[in-house]
Amino acid sequence: MQPKLSPKLLQIVFDNVYNGIYIVDGQGVTIAVNKTFEEMSGLSHAELVGQNLNDLVGEGRTFSGSASLLVLERKKPVTATYSTSTNRKLLVKGRPIFDAKGAIEYIINTIWDLTVVQYSRPIDADTARTRLLSEEDLITCSEQMMEVVDLALRVAATDSTILLTGESGVGKSLLARTIHQASRRKQKPLMQINCAAIPESLIEAELFGYESGAFTGASSKGKTGLLEMAQGGTVFLDEISELPYHLQSKLLGVIQDKEFFRVGGRKVQQVDVRLIAASNKDLAVQVAEGRFREDLYYRLNVVPIAIPPLRERREDIPTLIQYFTDKYNRRYNSYKKLTDSLIRKMTAMPWKGNIRELENAVERSIVTTAGDLISSETAQIPGIEETFVDGVSLKQLLAEHEKQILLKASEQYKTTRKIAAALGISQASAARKLKQIRKEVNL
Ligand SMILES: Nc1ncnc2c1ncn2[C@@H]1O[C@H](COP(=O)(O)OP(=O)(O)OP(=O)(O)O)[C@@H](O)[C@H]1O
Ligand SMILES: [Mg+2]
Repeated sequence: MQPKLSPKLLQIVFDNVYNGIYIVDGQGVTIAVNKTFEEMSGLSHAELVGQNLNDLVGEGRTFSGSASLLVLERKKPVTATYSTSTNRKLLVKGRPIFDAKGAIEYIINTIWDLTVVQYSRPIDADTARTRLLSEEDLITCSEQMMEVVDLALRVAATDSTILLTGESGVGKSLLARTIHQASRRKQKPLMQINCAAIPESLIEAELFGYESGAFTGASSKGKTGLLEMAQGGTVFLDEISELPYHLQSKLLGVIQDKEFFRVGGRKVQQVDVRLIAASNKDLAVQVAEGRFREDLYYRLNVVPIAIPPLRERREDIPTLIQYFTDKYNRRYNSYKKLTDSLIRKMTAMPWKGNIRELENAVERSIVTTAGDLISSETAQIPGIEETFVDGVSLKQLLAEHEKQILLKASEQYKTTRKIAAALGISQASAARKLKQIRKEVNL
């Protein structure tokens, strides 16, 4: 007899996969959660099944955010991290399942546990609430970025050295923390050092520690360096390109031999740490210019992860705006909303400061706008009405301007024939351009 995937067997699979599973219907109502999810979240299916996520997410509620609600809104797969009232941190990948008419019938969420500390007893509601409010989550619906997160999760499980590259504000530090939390080292410390923020003369002592009397002004007790403090955990070296040249070889020794000497020390220190380095400069260029050691570069570059700038994943912009609007509404106890036209304008902006700049813009507009509806006139977003942006090419500006014009025209006229006539272009070109724009901004 042909072996069958019976309902009984499906149930066994459902409850025994290593990931949590959380199934939601097209209205946002929880249909089912598996046993793994119950275990990793500390929430029981009785508390969740039948509940609408709109009621589960928010201040004093069960979840700090919801991938499913973003999936319903964006009609696309979404990857997001969030935390729970039981003080767990989870990473979820939500995927829409469409019915024959193209409406979302179900959302299947696959969940990873990123919880760092296991609490034996439940924490009180106030603590839970402050944590929910202070949490910083990672949200994305861009395919490029979801691949980046997938890669990060895959290598998180190994001990490989990771090099995160990308412009300022793209989320390198956030991803480094996520990798640590997804690794087997998550119960051990994550120590972070920003090589650009610490004076050259102090970095060595910070990183490697020193013995008493190692140099004038050194504490008589000596000092444990970050590498030792991170024992068993992760060291995140931010802005690694700024690490002084002579320390680069000392760091190389740590990677190769897992040992080093404290400053002024004679005893070999053994360390077991995973290194994550980040740079917003191109290290290959730094190597070519003789500012960065080639051997160290190759050792760090075992798994390079490049985080794309926000303007190369514009589909993330409306999703992030939504997420930050919810976040700051919760924080400031408000119910403000950005107009569609403002969101569209923001989607076309260059965002040279990437997600940091976008987040600040949303927070500022929520804080400074009096009414509940935030438009481009009231938002006070620098550059929103600008036609010239320093450092952005004419081609890019024209493309953005063209996008605005086409979107405006498509609001006014329903058919590509009328749009083409109004703008004096061919119908084929109007259709092609609009298709491209809709794909980009996901409207
Ligand atoms: N995908 C994301 N979803 C939600 N928030 C994000 C995301 N990426 C970044 N952020 C937020 O944007 C801000 C900037 O991110 P982060 O500090 O990680 O950037 P960075 O690349 O380390 O920048 P820098 O090079 O300046 O150190 C942070 O507040 C972070 O929480
Ligand atoms: Mg950073």
